[in-house]
Amino acid sequence: MDFYEVINTRRSIRKYKATEIPQEVIKKVMIAAGIAPSGRNRQKWKYILVYDKKMQKQLVEFCRNQEFVGNCPVTVVVCGASIPQHNRGNYMGEFGMLMDTSITFTHFMLAARAEGLGTCWIGLYDNEKVKTLLDVPEDWDVVALSPLGYPEDENAFHSNIKRLDYDELVSIDQF
Ligand SMILES: Cc1cc2nc3c(=O)[nH]c(=O)nc-3n(C[C@H](O)[C@H](O)[C@H](O)COP(=O)(O)O)c2cc1C
Repeated sequence: MDFYEVINTRRSIRKYKATEIPQEVIKKVMIAAGIAPSGRNRQKWKYILVYDKKMQKQLVEFCRNQEFVGNCPVTVVVCGASIPQHNRGNYMGEFGMLMDTSITFTHFMLAARAEGLGTCWIGLYDNEKVKTLLDVPEDWDVVALSPLGYPEDENAFHSNIKRLDYDELVSIDQF
């Protein structure tokens, strides 16, 4: 699929088929996620693929009962670690982990779309509860979750969604 078709048809998908995702497809998508750039190439990120139905149910609960988070073949959780020695002390320092992990997760979502898979970035979750459930080390945090699966309705990839007009998005020489 052409790159622009991928980004133009990536949508948050909130209804999934139960159809299993072939392992080679999952692997391809995860490898694309891992190609993402990071500050100093630190790659302090980790993906946890949750297949266990009971655990998926618990994730739903920890995501303010957003049912679709668990109504899918696999729920993807990405974690990031802050490393003090990589914080160069400028204003971005403490946000480095969030930036790095957001970039890899965006790669993941776009690669998934290219494979016909739906995703939905989930930002509403209880970090501590998800960490405990998935045995995430103390100095790591959950940065995002997403259901992963084939959309119940392919048209969902083409739903209308309002974005900024070009002139609102871009200005020349000044803000
Ligand atoms: C940081 C972040 C957090 C989000 N959290 C949630 C969430 O908890 N639940 C949800 O249904 N959608 C969530 N979304 C999805 C947005 O609502 C969605 O991306 C936005 O409305 C644009 O729609 P689109 O993804 O279909 O283009 C989140 C998106 C981002 C980037």
